[in-house]
Amino acid sequence: MTQPSPTRVAAMLAAERQRFTQTHPESQHLAAASAPHFLFGVPMHWMRDWPLPSPLFVREAQGSRLVCADGLSYIDLCLGDTGAMYGHSPAPVARALAEQAARGLTAMLPGTLLPEVGALLAQRFGLPRWQIVLSATDANRFVLRWARALTGRPKVLVFEGCYHGTVDDTLVDRADDGRTLTRASLLGQVHELALSTVVVPFNDEPALRTALAGGDVACVLTEPALTNCGLVPPLPGFMQAVQAACRETGTLLVLDETHTVSSGLGGWGRVHGLAPDFLVVGKAVAGGLPTAVYGFTDAVAARMEAAKAAAPDGHSGIGTTLAANVLQLAALRAQLAEVATPAAHARMDALAARLQAGLEAVLATAGVRWCVTRIGARMELQYLPAPPRDGREAAAAMQDDWTACLHLYMLNRGVLITPFHHMLLVPPCASEVDVDAVPPLLAQWLAAVIS
Ligand SMILES: Cc1ncc(COP(=O)(O)O)c(C=O)c1O
Repeated sequence: MTQPSPTRVAAMLAAERQRFTQTHPESQHLAAASAPHFLFGVPMHWMRDWPLPSPLFVREAQGSRLVCADGLSYIDLCLGDTGAMYGHSPAPVARALAEQAARGLTAMLPGTLLPEVGALLAQRFGLPRWQIVLSATDANRFVLRWARALTGRPKVLVFEGCYHGTVDDTLVDRADDGRTLTRASLLGQVHELALSTVVVPFNDEPALRTALAGGDVACVLTEPALTNCGLVPPLPGFMQAVQAACRETGTLLVLDETHTVSSGLGGWGRVHGLAPDFLVVGKAVAGGLPTAVYGFTDAVAARMEAAKAAAPDGHSGIGTTLAANVLQLAALRAQLAEVATPAAHARMDALAARLQAGLEAVLATAGVRWCVTRIGARMELQYLPAPPRDGREAAAAMQDDWTACLHLYMLNRGVLITPFHHMLLVPPCASEVDVDAVPPLLAQWLAAVIS
């Protein structure tokens, strides 16, 4: 099979690392100056996990472009791993933030924009009731707590290969015999996650039904397509089957659309007619300002109100002080009303389809049997002939060296893609010229690494 040669990849990786070092003196200067004060020299340790010799420092980011400390400009198809999905710093959001910042940031009280934001959320995502928090991780954590409180059931079910933020319950793997394993990489975990989390393969309805049959699972938490282990789309009818199995067993369905909101207006579930009990959207929902929202049905809201009324006064563990501040409301209103529009989604989809076609043509010409899996504006170059069926198949196809090498090759030629697997997300403000720049780079890279 035509594929990269390990020696060529290793040689190219070394050359590209050297090229990065030579062309990014200011980033290195900033890295050296930051090192004494920050763990691994960065303000958040993941920033060091990019496959670069030293961190890339950002000077500014606008629209589809990011400019690094050395003044080099990149077409950004990583977009902060979705936070900047509609483009960096959209003008309506930047304006709303500046105006609101002059009038207050946070008060632990509802702002006057709240009714309007509620109406926009309900209209866009199709659920009537909402809470506003600071991150998708928080939203998922809070929803799990609600789900357990409402059902009185101890367990949650996730799919193998999932990622829902740094929510302990979800950071699990699945053993060959189906047991839940705490992810080996999870630092500082002392609780036995197998006691509270069930994990089954995605796209496996029988496994799901068996797991729910015991009646001890409070909720199924899933993305409608797994996006954090490569991209695993649902087989036709699978998500509808998940919903039916949840209904039949009194299990709540939580859709995490933090990434899949890129697949269409209101998210994958809205486009495909799903009716989840809870919906989580974070990252891009307020233009990249730290914000997430979770929505729920009226029936669920009634159960939440009853649970809260029945609990003693005191800390509920479902909220944080800065959450739902007035700055977030201003950003949410601007983003939902003026940025994340039907026209923006139509444009993203069209550009993404164009990029997918370009990449597929390159693969076909090179005789490489890899696929470009796309849902809406998000696509993934996968080292497989067809999209994976589940997280295990997706993980087995990963080739970290190829990924690091292609990532750095593209970065050194002005294109940023996500660092850990090849996700490319196309913002509505990109141009045809931007997306057309990417396939030739893949062609050149393949020509150089294939033996
Ligand atoms: C599907 C999904 N949900 C939740 C999260 C958590 O988002 P955050 O890190 O902004 O809390 C992520 C992060 O990548 C995600 O991919």
